[in-house]
Amino acid sequence: MPSTPPVRLALVGAGRIGTHHARAIVEDVPGATLAAVVDPRTDVATALANQLDARAEAEASAVLTDPDIDAIIVTTPAALHRDLIIEAAAAGKHVFTEKPITTELDQADECVAAAATAGIVLQVGFNRRFAPGFVAARRAVDEGRIGTPQILRSLTRDPGPYGGDPARTPLWTIYLETLIHDFDTLRWLNPGSEVVSVTAHADALIRPDARDTGFLDTSVVSLRFDNGAFATAEASFCATYGYDVRGEVFGDGGMATAGSGRTSDMTYYGPQGASHDTSRADTDLLHGAYVGEFRAFVAAVTGGPSDIPTGEDGIKALEIARACILSVRESRTVALTEVAR
Ligand SMILES: NC(=O)c1ccc[n+]([C@@H]2O[C@H](COP(=O)([O-])OP(=O)(O)OC[C@H]3O[C@@H](n4cnc5c(N)ncnc54)[C@H](O)[C@@H]3O)[C@@H](O)[C@H]2O)c1
Repeated sequence: MPSTPPVRLALVGAGRIGTHHARAIVEDVPGATLAAVVDPRTDVATALANQLDARAEAEASAVLTDPDIDAIIVTTPAALHRDLIIEAAAAGKHVFTEKPITTELDQADECVAAAATAGIVLQVGFNRRFAPGFVAARRAVDEGRIGTPQILRSLTRDPGPYGGDPARTPLWTIYLETLIHDFDTLRWLNPGSEVVSVTAHADALIRPDARDTGFLDTSVVSLRFDNGAFATAEASFCATYGYDVRGEVFGDGGMATAGSGRTSDMTYYGPQGASHDTSRADTDLLHGAYVGEFRAFVAAVTGGPSDIPTGEDGIKALEIARACILSVRESRTVALTEVAR
């Protein structure tokens, strides 16, 4: 029996999440090989490539013109996603891009159109769709055990202490890069329905000294869906107890909750009481979900059955994020139809 050749991947962006993803692909994703690591920081690219038996490149053009590369994994800063997706589509390479698809809606439209024209797979890194608890919650919805969703929740709290630099954090990161996960999760747990309006509140509660620069580290968003369901999404850049990602869907037939920061189901009992350990990083808590999204990408690229978050899903989540930005700017409820391209 001839075996299927592996999908040959190039990672573009060897930063924090790219380093995790490269290792996850090499260690845990059958059917794929990591052929190259691209980063203008050539020392970083070379170090990672050497560890993983790949080659290092300084520029994406080197892998986009390589006929031996089938697909790229985009893990650069968000502002660079658009150009890489467009160039990869033109070169006939499949694309997995980290979220957000892009930061601007007109650019996201361009990316989806380019992918459709080229006939490539374009997957967006909404990894919660592959976390077992969230998968089970969605299954409960699909099986009718929730009934009609009426109230949904999703939250993201990054692990503290907050170690970021507000001056180096792009404006509106809390919507474009953090809550974008929650917006996708809420849509995914209320399938077939779309958000029609949002009311977003935000402040710099963790770094009030940076408030005047426009930095935001805490937000609560109220959303309304076209099937009548209400939802809330919330984010904080600093949870002292670790990385915290949860979701909930409540309907007339029941409720499903998902997400736990526990590192295992071990509970420690001692003289002070009972406790359990919590994850301190997304790459620990959601490692299996990241692996799952790459396995799904490989399946999609090889033409197998694969349910992936698409470029269109990337656009929908970005529309919600953009509506939140307008809501905060103008201190009012914003209809999604008001969001300009
Ligand atoms: N899904 C998730 O849970 C998750 C988690 C973290 C980050 N992300 C997303 O991943 C992306 C990267 O985030 P990060 O925290 O790893 O950022 P990072 O700053 O740590 O890494 C970005 C890397 O891209 C490199 N780079 C810059 N320009 C490049 C170019 N033209 N070609 C190739 N490489 C280039 C930089 O040198 C750096 O190594 C962002 O879009 C972010 O929102 C997703």
